[in-house]
Amino acid sequence: MRIGNMFLAATAAVALSATSLLAGSDRLSIDGQEMTTRAKAPDYTPNLDQVISGWVFRSEETQALELDDFDNPSFVFIDQANDLWNKVDGSEGKSCASCHDDVAEFKGLRTVLPRVVDGKLQTLEDIINSERVNRMGAEPWGYTSAPMAAMAALISLQSRGMPVQVKIDGDAAPFWERGKEIYYTRVGQLDLACANCHEDNYGKMIRADRLSQGQINGFPTYRLKNAKLNTVHARFKGCMKNVRAKPYKPGSDEFKALELYVASRGAGLSVESPSVRN
Ligand code: HEC
Ligand code: HEC
Repeated sequence: MRIGNMFLAATAAVALSATSLLAGSDRLSIDGQEMTTRAKAPDYTPNLDQVISGWVFRSEETQALELDDFDNPSFVFIDQANDLWNKVDGSEGKSCASCHDDVAEFKGLRTVLPRVVDGKLQTLEDIINSERVNRMGAEPWGYTSAPMAAMAALISLQSRGMPVQVKIDGDAAPFWERGKEIYYTRVGQLDLACANCHEDNYGKMIRADRLSQGQINGFPTYRLKNAKLNTVHARFKGCMKNVRAKPYKPGSDEFKALELYVASRGAGLSVESPSVRN
């Protein structure tokens, strides 16, 4: 298998010259605000000592793009989201701004998502679409669409620097367990689970890329590769395709459960959204 062989070859190469696992710095300060890029791993991830932001694993050039909002290409989309925020749409003749004074009122919301409401696991994308449909009488946005990614980035930005702290017990527990199961299940022609790359091999090179822990504290994330904002489920889908598996659908119960589980693996890391990756 092509990727499999390259993976092994790359792993061997790293093993030969394993002086430094990480390319760049791990001290991230965005416009003077200090981010937590490493935190003690929670007790429910016994295979990790530390949880580490994906930013730490990027090259110095890519890292630099996140240090200053003027250099961060995501902010073009933040501007677009501000326009969407004020744009009237739907049968009620309202915009988000008609009812919400300032998007800053959602400070902290991103740190607790996904969360269970009335027995259902709710993501930020679910909330945005429910606002559009139920309060504006507007069409829902596509789950990984450009306006959705932009609005999710604008709302997440309000929590930047705050620690991820999703709830995983009580009514969230069954969703979390399901997400965990998916995370450790080998899939696809390459027969790899998320954990095989992002837990067993983070820090190592796979093709030209350095594997991170696959954290989602920086999402939505601007990728240099496709020059747009990418949502969490779009990234999950991409990783499943890379192992030649049939991906779950963005917005599916499976990906939402996986999102809760992956978010919980980043407990204590700062929300870094919108981040920059290659
Ligand atoms: C007709 C009025 C109305 C419109 C239009 C509206 N909202 Fe809301 N929204 C509310 C009310 C009322 C609540 C529930 C009370 C609250 O949490 O502020 C709410 C809740 C929310 C929440 C959840 C807050 C939380 O902590 O649980 C988010 C996020 C949100 N709205 C975003 C938006 C966005 C984005 C738009 C535009 C796409 C929008 N809203 C449009 C009235 C509105
Ligand atoms: C064959 C190895 C491989 C597997 C298996 C894999 N990924 Fe990835 N993943 C990558 C690579 C390579 C990247 C890009 C470099 C990086 O950030 O790790 C990536 C990136 C990511 C990112 C972006 C991290 C960031 O900081 O932006 C997330 C999130 C992610 N993966 C989640 C998953 C999940 C969830 C699964 C299981 C469904 C999975 N991956 C399976 C290789 C893999």
